[in-house]
Amino acid sequence: MIDAKTKLCCIIGNPVEHSLSPQMHNAAFKALGLNYVFVAFEVDEVKTAIQGLRAINARGIVVTVPHKLAAMKYVDEIDQAAKAIAAVNAIVNCKGKLKATNTDWIGGLQALKEKTSVKGKSVAILGAGGGARAIAYGLQQHKVKEINVFNRTLRRAQRLVFELNLTGAFKLSSGGQAIPPERWSGLLIKKADIIINTTSVGMKPDVEHSPIPKEFMRKGQVVYDIVYTPRETKLLRMAKEVGATVVYGDKMMLYGGKRIFELFTGKKAPVGEMRKALFKSLKKR
Ligand code: ATR
Repeated sequence: MIDAKTKLCCIIGNPVEHSLSPQMHNAAFKALGLNYVFVAFEVDEVKTAIQGLRAINARGIVVTVPHKLAAMKYVDEIDQAAKAIAAVNAIVNCKGKLKATNTDWIGGLQALKEKTSVKGKSVAILGAGGGARAIAYGLQQHKVKEINVFNRTLRRAQRLVFELNLTGAFKLSSGGQAIPPERWSGLLIKKADIIINTTSVGMKPDVEHSPIPKEFMRKGQVVYDIVYTPRETKLLRMAKEVGATVVYGDKMMLYGGKRIFELFTGKKAPVGEMRKALFKSLKKR
């Protein structure tokens, strides 16, 4: 029941009505009997929104597109991961102090590590946006052998690789390069132990497209798509056909959400309940 003691958590973004965070977190609050509520706010002015949420003593704020970078200016502390990724996706109000972090990389890595170890592996990342950056950061934390970034716009891939090498926390143990489409030899991607798609290619309504052809994949590889609508993208369908192991994008959201729940409540997240709520909402899409 919502009463005068209810703690407010929310997501701010624009658009935000597609967000599944309210369903996932409210199911978790209910499962643990916590007097918390999670709502979504469509926000244009991120500065005013964060100031307002601070003023009303909101407990936690999830930040989504397009505010992940701008939000950094209006908090009191930013942890090392969020600084390195250059994006914030969660803010916790600790007795009036707004502490910002990024949990995307935690969700992304946990989903992958359920299926494979990453230490010493060669990884091909498709795309060079915010998702790629978070995943690349996570991979660095787990001592991969090399990361090659394949992106439509070479400049963005180069920037990602350059910045990975520059930041202390991002030292590549070996290699790492940015590769433009004309040099996307199937062999180079096929050679990788793990392929991760972070582009929006294959996302509804673009379901008949894949960022790479089937010939670029092979048996024994792990293929991970962070796109989660549809759950089984064309890329993952083809990966299964060649005998690769697949990792679904909804797991990244689930495990990122788990971490956020724990930051906001200080309690261990009821992952089973969160998964149920998430899958139920995804099925309605
Ligand atoms: P996010 O923060 O969610 O990763 P983003 O920053 O918009 O989103 O990045 C989207 C990624 O998908 C980019 O790497 C983008 O390539 P560009 O840097 O060339 O824009 C990639 N992408 C989007 N649509 C694409 C398409 N049709 N073909 C190939 N790559 C595409």
